[in-house]
Amino acid sequence: MGILVTGGAGYIGSHTCVDLLEAGYEVIVADNLINSKREALNRVEEITGRKLRFYEADIADKPSTEIIFRENSIEGVIHFAALKSVGESVSQPLMYYGNNISATLTLLELMEKYDVTKFVFSSSATVYGDPASVPIQEDFPLKAVNPYGNTKIIVEDILKDLCKANNRFKAALLRYFNPVGAHPSGRIGEEPRGIPNNLMPYITQIAVGRLDQLQVFGNDYDTVDGTGVRDYIHVEDLAHGHILALAKLDEIEGCEIYNLGTGKGVSVLEMIRAFEKASGKTIPYKIAGRREGDVAACYADPEKARRELGFTCEKNLDDMCRDSWRWQTQNPNGY
Ligand code: NAD
Ligand code: WQD
Repeated sequence: MGILVTGGAGYIGSHTCVDLLEAGYEVIVADNLINSKREALNRVEEITGRKLRFYEADIADKPSTEIIFRENSIEGVIHFAALKSVGESVSQPLMYYGNNISATLTLLELMEKYDVTKFVFSSSATVYGDPASVPIQEDFPLKAVNPYGNTKIIVEDILKDLCKANNRFKAALLRYFNPVGAHPSGRIGEEPRGIPNNLMPYITQIAVGRLDQLQVFGNDYDTVDGTGVRDYIHVEDLAHGHILALAKLDEIEGCEIYNLGTGKGVSVLEMIRAFEKASGKTIPYKIAGRREGDVAACYADPEKARRELGFTCEKNLDDMCRDSWRWQTQNPNGY
């Protein structure tokens, strides 16, 4: 029996494939490579010394996705495939609703047809919007502030409804905080398209000489030093959360929601300092205005995942910076 990993060639998906293969699962990847390269999966095989099965398929395309269900014995699905740029979702909402919601419906219909009942979904801390307080617990109110966030809330709702309608269907809704870092080998990592929006890839691209200076978006927030505070989690710890969630589906009924974060808030200036220490590079920055849509502080209460999944984060901020830096230096222009 295999695990179908949609979006498995992407940043979090590729690291999860390593973990799945190392845990002995048979892995089938469906990815249309819209935001990734086939090479990532070659390197997953190189790291693990194991083979996976790859389909270059758009999961919105039912006939080609159905072939995957017909040709494989699938036990569960880990669904990473989605578009994830907040800014792009504001300018192209239909593309985001189509790819992140309609494509997920197609996948769920095929799961129903082929009687596959285990589902792990990549949700996001973005569903909490601007939280009333931190740390954030799973039962906090949800409020999306952009179309991307809306797609995550809507798919969560679809899954909750599906679990109510079909008592054999089980889903783990994993709300990730801010994934950073890379596999310690430096062979797989995050490869953003164009100029990065996110903090860590922006910093690593400055350090490697591709960008000049970081703009720190606001230093007047009510935080430790006025800059934005986030819960950065090493992508390897995050990947491992999927293995734990998959195993948990054998025990739960219906849907369960888990925050996957470290529970520790780190400011932008703290991140710059940690990266400088790990890399020995200076990161030039200037204070700029706040970025629209940003919140002051966002970090998880990861207690539920710890208690119910046995989820703990093994990697600290130094590991995250060191591994992001290794990936960037070994692959200055990506894959
Ligand atoms: P990514 O872009 O690196 O990976 C997504 C993968 O899905 C890519 O390989 C892409 O080619 C593929 N894909 C997209 N649409 C597809 C489709 N219709 N059919 C087949 N493949 C398709 O992104 P990531 O950072 O690895 O994120 C994975 C998931 O986690 C996404 O659902 C994302 O929304 C969610 N998430 C990411 C973050 C983050 O900061 N990286 C935070 C919270 C949640
Ligand atoms: C982190 C901090 C910025 C860039 C986003 C999405 C979210 C999720 C993860 C998918 C903030 C500051 C950043 C820069 C800066 N993705 N910053 N200068 O905004 O917490 O979350 O990625 O689900 O949905 O919104 O992450 O890395 O962009 O920002 O000062 O050039 O770094 O203001 O405080 P964010 P980020």
